[in-house]
Amino acid sequence: MVHIALPAEFLMELKLRNDIESVVSSYVNLKRAGRNLTGLCPFHNEKTPSFTLYTEDNTFYCFGCQAAGDVITFIRRIENLDYIEAVRFLADRAGMSMPQEHGDDGQAKLRGRILEMNRAAAKFYHMNLTKPEGRIALDYLRNRGLADNTIRKFGLGYAPDSWDALIKHLHSLGYSQGDMIAADLAVRSRNGGAFDRFRHRVMFPIIDLRGGVVGFTGRLLDKDKQKGKYVNTSQTLVFKKNQQIYALNTAKNNNNGTLILCEGNMDVIAMHQAGFTNAVAAMGTAFNADHARILSRYCENIIIAGDNDEAGQKAVEKEIKILRDAGITVKILIIPSGKDADEFLREKGKDGPAIFAKLIQDAVPDMDFKLLKSQSGFNMDTPEGRVEYSKKAVGILCDIDNRLEREIYAAKIASQLGVSKDSILTQVSLQQKRRLKSKERQTFREIQLKTGGYSDKINPDKPKYLRAARAEEQLISILINNPELLNDMTKRSLPGLFITKFNKRLFEEIALSIDNGYTGYDEILTDLNRAFDPEEISVVHAIALLRNPSGMGKGIAGLDEIDDYCEILKQENEKIETASVSDMSIEDAAKAFEKIKNMKLRG
Ligand code: UTP
Ligand code: MN
Repeated sequence: MVHIALPAEFLMELKLRNDIESVVSSYVNLKRAGRNLTGLCPFHNEKTPSFTLYTEDNTFYCFGCQAAGDVITFIRRIENLDYIEAVRFLADRAGMSMPQEHGDDGQAKLRGRILEMNRAAAKFYHMNLTKPEGRIALDYLRNRGLADNTIRKFGLGYAPDSWDALIKHLHSLGYSQGDMIAADLAVRSRNGGAFDRFRHRVMFPIIDLRGGVVGFTGRLLDKDKQKGKYVNTSQTLVFKKNQQIYALNTAKNNNNGTLILCEGNMDVIAMHQAGFTNAVAAMGTAFNADHARILSRYCENIIIAGDNDEAGQKAVEKEIKILRDAGITVKILIIPSGKDADEFLREKGKDGPAIFAKLIQDAVPDMDFKLLKSQSGFNMDTPEGRVEYSKKAVGILCDIDNRLEREIYAAKIASQLGVSKDSILTQVSLQQKRRLKSKERQTFREIQLKTGGYSDKINPDKPKYLRAARAEEQLISILINNPELLNDMTKRSLPGLFITKFNKRLFEEIALSIDNGYTGYDEILTDLNRAFDPEEISVVHAIALLRNPSGMGKGIAGLDEIDDYCEILKQENEKIETASVSDMSIEDAAKAFEKIKNMKLRG
């Protein structure tokens, strides 16, 4: 979702010039019904009109499908546009020009400054390598086998052993302390000052797909006493660690459809130096579906070259599943010696590239890899061993969605075991049925857990925390209808007390709208289009109406009412804290159980 804040005056004029009746009537045949207008809802199929236009507050609501919102939401839905596109659509319709798309936007400007500061910092870190105090880092990198050319290509650098070297440098370039903190290049100290975020570390700039320096990874120099071997920039306006892929900016070019997924930055750099410029890595976070989705845009095949230790191999198994689910064809490369790709290449020296090229050639398809691994615990020379293996193998086949692929592997396993392919496939379909049953049971249990037995698509936490969610909604409604109460609310730790994620986000976005100068009920609802999709807007609208059923007068609220709802939230928070202790023990029990099971399998 794009979070572009448009000036309040612009949006209000836009709405004035696009009155909802004239906009909607070009899509819906409207008839007057008292003060309002009705028609057949364009968002669902119906024969009697339940779509209603409220001319007093310029909103629509459908009693049939609960679609609701203002003129912008209407256009987003019916034209299938995102927020800014819908605004542009209406601006065109009214002959207005869009405000300078970035010029007026504080957040967009800050983004730009963060990118500039990051670039300046990267240069600063890199130049330090040529200075006496950076010698230690340059030696470190050279000792790890990196050529100067590689160091330059990746823009590696050194953050000096100082509390303010970078801050001073960025100050001299005209950047403020606040901006440096926003970039996570500096950290606010208790006395209100700031200190350098990265100190006495080897620095790896992180470049996004457009070539911007979005963040950094810093690695300890050897024998250092600081905590954290690797630290990353935390989340900023331009950096999301768990959606970032190291070196994809270069690896995306000329990769012939295949990328090599390594474990760490150093592996990637060593691989590129050895000529494998299609190597990438996640940023020290667990590999996730976002990573896979991004990678799937730039390749069809991935070869996983994970670390050669237990943790590394566990990670590989998870990665296989996530990549497979994203439709990527996966192969596994086994590193025969050394802990990881970097160590292996260094160990092999000049021959490294050739040997590694052979490893790539020999990489095995993910299913073969899983089957091979599952064999390792069993003695395939005994009937018992083969039976146990067949059970595991059947479990693995169950995960294959593609029927043809499943058949091919079934045939493979059948010939290993000396049984017929059909007997394997029969076992697979039996187990699949069993799995489906247990999944159904689990879903049923989950539904039972939810109060009232229904689920809420927009606010999925709501059924579980119904009492809290209702109090939150009242507070939100009070806020939308009485924006002047924002201060009183934040003083009472709102939305910190909120439990459900959607409501918390909603409160925060409303507060942002108010801070940005949107003061009226109508104006705030309109501004929220920037942060919520149309389905969410329908819910927001319903919440707003809780305190203002007619959509007209203000639902006046007193501070004591706010206190009452805060009290409910405090109680519900306490409940969660005490409940989680018992949750934990169940989890621990499950872990212990898993351990025992593994011991049996090995023994
Ligand atoms: P490793 O400890 O295997 O490091 O962590 P490495 O990649 O081999 O690094 P070198 O060769 O010792 O320099 C693997 C990855 O996990 C992340 C990093 O991304 C690292 O590359 N990591 C590790 C962290 O984020 N924080 C840590 O403290 C350690
Ligand atoms: Mn390593």
